[in-house]
Amino acid sequence: MFLSRRTLISSALLMLLPFVQYANAADSLPNSNLASVATSPLHSVADNLTFANYQQVSIHHIELALNVDFELQQLSGNVILELDWHKAGKTLVLDTRDLTINSVSMLNAKGQWQAVPFRLGVVDKVKGAALTIQFPQERVAKVKINYHTSANPSGIQWLTPEQTQGKQWPFMFSQSQAIHARSWIPLQDTPAVRQTYSATVTTKQGMSVVMSADRTSLSDTQTQFTMPQAIPAYLIAIAAGHLQFAALDKTSGIWAEPEMLAKASKEFTDTPAMIAIAAKRYGDYRWGRYDLLILPPSFPFGGMENPRLSFITPTVIAGDKSLVSLIAHELAHSWSGNLVTNATWRDLWLNEGFTTYVENRIMEDLYGRDRALMEQTISYSELLAELAELPAGDSVLHIDLGERDPDDAFSGVPYVKGQLFLRFLEQKFGRERFDNFVKSYFDHFAFQSITTEQFRNYLTQHLLQRYPNIVSESEVDTWIEGQGLPPFLTPPNSPAFDDIDAQRQAWLDGKAKASALNTQGWTVHQWLRFINEMPRLNLTPAQLLELDNAFHFTGTSNNEIAFAWYSLALDNRYFSVLPALKQHLTEIGRRRLIVPLYQKLASSEHYDWAKTVYLAARSGYHPQTQASLDTMFSDTPIEHQH
Ligand code: BES
Ligand code: ZN
Repeated sequence: MFLSRRTLISSALLMLLPFVQYANAADSLPNSNLASVATSPLHSVADNLTFANYQQVSIHHIELALNVDFELQQLSGNVILELDWHKAGKTLVLDTRDLTINSVSMLNAKGQWQAVPFRLGVVDKVKGAALTIQFPQERVAKVKINYHTSANPSGIQWLTPEQTQGKQWPFMFSQSQAIHARSWIPLQDTPAVRQTYSATVTTKQGMSVVMSADRTSLSDTQTQFTMPQAIPAYLIAIAAGHLQFAALDKTSGIWAEPEMLAKASKEFTDTPAMIAIAAKRYGDYRWGRYDLLILPPSFPFGGMENPRLSFITPTVIAGDKSLVSLIAHELAHSWSGNLVTNATWRDLWLNEGFTTYVENRIMEDLYGRDRALMEQTISYSELLAELAELPAGDSVLHIDLGERDPDDAFSGVPYVKGQLFLRFLEQKFGRERFDNFVKSYFDHFAFQSITTEQFRNYLTQHLLQRYPNIVSESEVDTWIEGQGLPPFLTPPNSPAFDDIDAQRQAWLDGKAKASALNTQGWTVHQWLRFINEMPRLNLTPAQLLELDNAFHFTGTSNNEIAFAWYSLALDNRYFSVLPALKQHLTEIGRRRLIVPLYQKLASSEHYDWAKTVYLAARSGYHPQTQASLDTMFSDTPIEHQH
């Protein structure tokens, strides 16, 4: 059990505040005798990224009444929080970031809303500001908060019409994971707390509002939502824009701007088959509908698994289904993540590692073992490259976040190392036993938020001890708590890459011209392999030009190939790509596809060029992307490293 300095400091801060009841709030913080209450999930979880006194009182339902104002770029309205008291008390502490709180009231014994005192605490750079509400009596059941968002909330992006596909209508969307829900709703922003929610949302005519919930249109301007399954705050999501819907089948479909709808429907036509495959292997899909929302290109992630409605970047619409593993991934979260949820952000690998594993199993069932193995092999190589750069502590699955924002510790480790760990177990125990284990794990912890420790106990009981002498506790320990990759790992290795590697080598050895290589029938993944494993630092401009002339990488419409190629070009100081790269950096905002390229530019003599491109593109990026790039370009030009 970790007890960080931050928790201690925030306890101390709470004690300084004027209400007597703070003693209670402080008592409820994770500080003592946790073992004795370990049977109650909330009490056993220490999340130091929330101010909330959730171990004492937790929200079980959120009722939102919001207006989406595109002129003001503001969400405003009321939220009613329904409370469960685990221990009597009169204080409720919530998370906020940059919210304006107008008033707070409680439902009193007469059934009336009665104003109650509240205060916003000192702003913490990572956590935001605690909203402390003081009730005159114990065990208040409902509290209502009237509030509005600020000009640039970390969890919302407001887009002008020019930043959309159709150019006629504005757009807005939320991205709450990890700790950004607090920037648009005052709540208990910890994945340890689960709640149902409902919402009534108004906006201007011509716009559609969607949320991660069941949707009913009430009028041209008003939409109602209900999410009857209890979910963590980071899965509450909203978007509004000039959207249309196209069904894929009875229970799944696509929301997109009209200009994108047909292309997206064609690209993601296999979604219903993916749902069927996952449900067959891992148990029923428990969320009703599964729809996809295609966002504008500034969406900062590839995808986000908002329940019933995954948010998807348009950058994976390649025209040939080559990048649809993203859909398998977000869908897989319907089991790993949304059904069984990481209780704290230290446990993110429970979400992402399991999801990356399940994603690849879906890909294997749908498109065959070759494709699945190619994707595993590519991710593995990317992980190796990333591990070479990462602080050793961040290579641990059960990561110690210290005082950091989880976004700042984000890496491929929880994803790919997590997947490798689960593949290791699969290989050791055999598919049948392992599949049964995974399915029973999802059933056992369904609609719960769990820690790595709870996973381990379940693993020990249901796999290690059930089939003894196959995998040891110490091997599991090496995977979960150890740094880097275990020495006993068997890396994935796709035979479909053998020929690619051979041809690359022939070219590097001067035995064949690029134009003479036999690349017929290569898939996108084989091209990625061809580029990714090229030498760094010592290819000549003439060699890169030869590749580009033969294969026309610069300006390619496949965003993964573009990313791979620009990375290779910059690593080898082939700066003829800059004009095309400028377009890539300006037109998309997906962090994984742009931030590493900015990084390479920022440490070259093209720092100033990159800064200029960034400053011109900045207003089109998501606030979270802006935040990382602002830091990168905050100082005066650094000494160029070659
Ligand atoms: N849940 C994640 C996105 C996320 C993780 C947001 C952590 C904030 C904090 C989503 O499911 C995801 O993993 N997206 C990946 C997809 C890829 C690995 C297939 C992405 O956006 O690149
Ligand atoms: Zn994910």
